[in-house]
Formats: sequence, structure tokens, C-alpha cells
Amino acid sequence: MNFSPETYLWFKSFHIIGVVVWFAGLFYLVRLFIYHVEVQTQKEEIREVFNKQYTLMEKRLANIITTPGMVLAVIMATGLLYMQPSYLSQAWMQVKLLFVLFLLIYHFYCYRIMNQLTNNQFNFSGQQLRALNELPTLLLVVVVMLVVFKNQFPTSAASWLIFGLILFMAASIQFYAKWRRNKKQLT
Ligand code: HEM
Repeated sequence: MNFSPETYLWFKSFHIIGVVVWFAGLFYLVRLFIYHVEVQTQKEEIREVFNKQYTLMEKRLANIITTPGMVLAVIMATGLLYMQPSYLSQAWMQVKLLFVLFLLIYHFYCYRIMNQLTNNQFNFSGQQLRALNELPTLLLVVVVMLVVFKNQFPTSAASWLIFGLILFMAASIQFYAKWRRNKKQLT
């Protein structure tokens, strides 16, 4: 099949749109899990209402936003690779595919947690789910950098310093949020 060069740009645009939708869904889904788990400290009648509502919101988000975003991103990526098969033999793409595999495992793991919550099985604390929610952020940073820098992936000391600063800022925000939560519980 012969595609025009413009088709590649269409594939790329919708690949990026799919990725944005996919990540929005993944981030919000685990947020909902956190609220769902933390409402278990409430009285039975409150818990019952919230469990029903969170289960509904999680299912809708996962099936109407998160998974369709993932499917769109993957189908468009297949189109990109079909038009540019030489990328498959390049190191940056192979590493990218490895990280995308981790992301897919994360995606299906979220479904597993969602089904456990639906069945009132609470295997994780809110704190553990907050930590889990950091994983896609890391995958996002690495994958976007791989696709932008390709084989010139930055490895200099200055680049590591910038990367370290970003991690430090993210950790500080998390600690600040935790400190505020603890303070709220004490008052
Ligand atoms: C199914 C797995 C995936 C494959 C096979 C794939 C493949 C590709 C290909 C071939 C391109 C075009 C590169 C170019 O023309 O320069 C691309 C672009 C891009 N991909 Fe993916 N991708 C996948 C998943 C992802 C994921 C999960 C993310 C985000 C975390 C992502 C983010 C991007 C971005 C931001 C671009 C645009 C880069 C640019 O134009 O500079 N991709 N992808």
C-alpha cells in the first residue's frame, strides 16, 4: 500500500492525541482508586453509597477514556512503523517499545485493581496507590525523551543534573502534599 507523506503526519497527530487521552485516563483512574480506598474508614451507609459511585466512575473512565486512548495510540503507532519500518532496528525505538510494554502491563494491572475494588477487596493502602501513581509519570518522561532525542539521548552530567532536579521537585511536591494531609488529620 502506498501512503502519501502527509498520512505519516496524520498518524503522528492521532498517535499523540491517543497518548494524551491514555495518560489522562491512567492518572485519574488511580486517583479514583485512592478516594475509593480512603472512603473505607467512613460509616457503613456512607461507604456503601461511595463504593457504588466510585465503581461506576472507575469503570466508565477505564472503558470510555483510558482503553480507547491506548487503542488509538497503538493503532496509530502501528501505522507510523508501517510507513517507517527502519525505526524498528534503531536502539531508541527498541528501548521505547520496552518501556511501552511496562506501560501496557501497568494499564492491565490497573484493571486488576479495579476488579478487586469492585469486589470490595482492598489490598492496597491510599499511600501505596499514591506511590503507584508515580510510575506512569516516570514512563511518560522517559518515553517522550526517547522519541524526541532518539539516538542522541542525553547522557551528559548537565542532563543528569536537570533530570535530578525534576525528580527532586516531584518528590518535594509529594512530601508537601503528605505533610498537609497529616496536618489535616491532626486538626
Ligand atoms: C505502541 C507503542 C508505540 C510505538 C510503536 C510508537 C511509535 C512511534 C513512532 C514511530 C513515532 C514517530 C517518530 C518520528 O517520526 O519522529 C512516534 C512518535 C511519538 N510518540 Fe510514540 N509510539 C508508541 C507509544 C508511545 C507512548 C506510550 C508515548 C508516550 C508516553 C509516545 C509518545 C510519542 C510522541 C510524543 C511522539 C512524537 C515525537 C516527535 O514527533 O518528535 N509513543 N511514536
